[in-house]
This record gives sequence, C-alpha cells and structure tokens, in this order.
Amino acid sequence: MLGLKLLTDPRWANIAESNLEEILTDHAWCEQKAASNAISLITQNSELEDLVHELTAIAIEEMEHFKMVIDIIKERGYELGRERKDDYVGQLMKFAKKDGSRNQAFIDRLLFAAMIEARSCERFRVLSKNIKDQDLAKFYHDLMVSEANHYTTFLNFAKKYTKDVDVDKRWKEWLEFEGNLIQSYGKKEQIHG
Ligand SMILES: [Fe+2]
Ligand SMILES: [Fe+2]
Repeated sequence: MLGLKLLTDPRWANIAESNLEEILTDHAWCEQKAASNAISLITQNSELEDLVHELTAIAIEEMEHFKMVIDIIKERGYELGRERKDDYVGQLMKFAKKDGSRNQAFIDRLLFAAMIEARSCERFRVLSKNIKDQDLAKFYHDLMVSEANHYTTFLNFAKKYTKDVDVDKRWKEWLEFEGNLIQSYGKKEQIHG
C-alpha cells in the first residue's frame, strides 16, 4: 500500500481501541503537527506559488481534522491530553537530509511529509477495518482517503521541484528506512506507536 514495505499487524487496532482516550489525544496532536508542518513549508518556500496554495489547503484541512478529533473527544466525555511525543516521526526527521543543497533539504522535507502521510493513511485503514466502534471506523475510513491525497500532493511536489535530486531513488531509500523503522512499532495506542 502506497509503496510501504511493511503493513501494520491488525492486532495493533485492538491495542488502540482498548484506550480510545489515548489514541484520540495522540491523533489530535498528529493533525496539529501536520498543519504546522504545512505552514512551515509555506513559510520557507514562499516563492513557490503553487506550493503555497496547495499547502494552505492542506494546513486548513489538517486543522479541520484536528477539530473533528477534539469534537469526538468532547462528545465521548474524554479529555484532550497534552501533546504526545511522536518517537516515530522523530526518527524520520533524523533520516531527513539537512546538509547538501537547499533544494536537497527541501525535497527531503517533502518526502518526510509524504512518508508520514503514507503511514498515517495505512494506520487509519487498519483502524477503519478492525475496530468494533462503527462510528469511529467510518471516521477513520474518511480520513484515510484524505491523507492518501496529501501523500500524493507532497510526492508530486518533490517530483516537480526535483532539480539536483533523483527523487525516485531517494524515495526508495525512504521506503527502505521506514520499513525497518516501523518494525519496532505497532505495540502502543498511538497513531505511529
Ligand atoms: Fe489529517
Ligand atoms: Fe494529512
């Protein structure tokens, strides 16, 4: 799915469903971070008109997702906890190239975003197919579609602005790295946990 090397064990969905307050809190912050990431890409690349416009739409959409999640938290009588640390995303960030040319760092930043969208999409799919709560299953199905579109947007921008980077080759490296990384996860009630 979306080139991912390793699919999530469906039993992770049972872990997630066993602590909905925790998974929803973690999820809400994932959406907020996705919005922040889009905003910072806009700030750093303001000369790219198409990117500014498309990522503005994504930032808004991610905050709409945030709103949907905090609404569910409220309806169910849960509390939005403090922002959760996302160890998986931290490891991906370490893999992203920061040296090299400005363009190389920019392309890797787009691939970093595409990678997170791809895995989030896959995790939402696992939730939508495996949790017993049918309202949440439908909710996660809808979000899965949305994150798949974001994945495509980020990957397409990486391909469009490729210049000095072999994007296909670098994307394969990302998929390899992520495939190994994700083996250590799938045990916690976190979207990337
Ligand atoms: Fe989202
Ligand atoms: Fe997204």
